[in-house]
Amino acid sequence: MKHFLNTQDWTRPELDELLVQAARFKRSKLGDQLKGKSIALVFFNPSLRTRTSFELGAFQLGGHAVVLQPGKDAWPIEFNLGTVMDGEAEEHIAEVARVLSRYADLIAVRAFPKFQDWSVDRQDTVLRSFAKYSTVPVINLETITHPCQELAHAMALQEHFKTPDLRGKKFVLTWTYHPKPLNTAVANSALTIATRMGMDVTLLCPTPDYVLDERYMGWAADNVAESGGSLRISHDPTDAYTGADVVYAKSWGALPYFGRWDQEKPIRDAHKHFMVDEAKMALTNNGVFSHCLPLRRNVKATDGVMDAPYCIAIEEAENRLHVQKAIMAALANQ
Ligand code: CP
Repeated sequence: MKHFLNTQDWTRPELDELLVQAARFKRSKLGDQLKGKSIALVFFNPSLRTRTSFELGAFQLGGHAVVLQPGKDAWPIEFNLGTVMDGEAEEHIAEVARVLSRYADLIAVRAFPKFQDWSVDRQDTVLRSFAKYSTVPVINLETITHPCQELAHAMALQEHFKTPDLRGKKFVLTWTYHPKPLNTAVANSALTIATRMGMDVTLLCPTPDYVLDERYMGWAADNVAESGGSLRISHDPTDAYTGADVVYAKSWGALPYFGRWDQEKPIRDAHKHFMVDEAKMALTNNGVFSHCLPLRRNVKATDGVMDAPYCIAIEEAENRLHVQKAIMAALANQ
């Protein structure tokens, strides 16, 4: 039984087939691939796009989605083994995942890091535990990676460049300012899919402290070796933006400062100028800009960038619907 926890677990032909199916769904939105089937959407964190697109996507394919928010409208869950459960949690993942598997044909999970200890968060315990105990396929709705966003982004680029072959495109993943330290999930994912697609990737970030976890840098290196693309790190916006075909922005917290965010703040605040603006975009090769959203205007990117014809963030957000329908259809009918 196959899960969708990370794109790296899927072969390139399998990912390509998902993208082809997503394009079919974009042309013709209704289907019966989930007729009589259901998906449990388990959200430990807020969402606009993910929740809406999964609920409506399941409906459009004849299925039904149930949303659960543990600790709000569902019981708080314990994930550690051997724990004396005399705290907040009312039930254990060993029961939760198996019970949901008796009701639903798919389980999907959003669980962000706790932002206190990266060595703990990088184990992805919530998602891994669902996958361990579930007897139906599990989908990652964003934990420490965001694979659904990866496919939506890849699809938007394929549409923009009018080709499924993105090899040789100059791709810049830029850190951008945000007042709070955010999840590295989308950055990990952007690096993963851009290298997987064979692009020439620059990771632009303020200092070496903002380089991503070695697991994802390693995946990117593996992908480069296989795809023939390239990967380099830059701390100079002018250098990175010059000649870029794609600029993808995300803010994230520096891993060495995990749990000591007050010490990271001065570094973060000194790099507000990393905000994506029209002057930086003018350095590109008539490049496109995108972001996973939500985005704080005039903090992460200017109004001018967000409203420019080269901004494809809305197309990418729409594509979440199509790629996720392809993922649900593939997993529910394997
Ligand atoms: N990009 C994304 O996952 O959006 P939401 O957090 O609104 O679901």
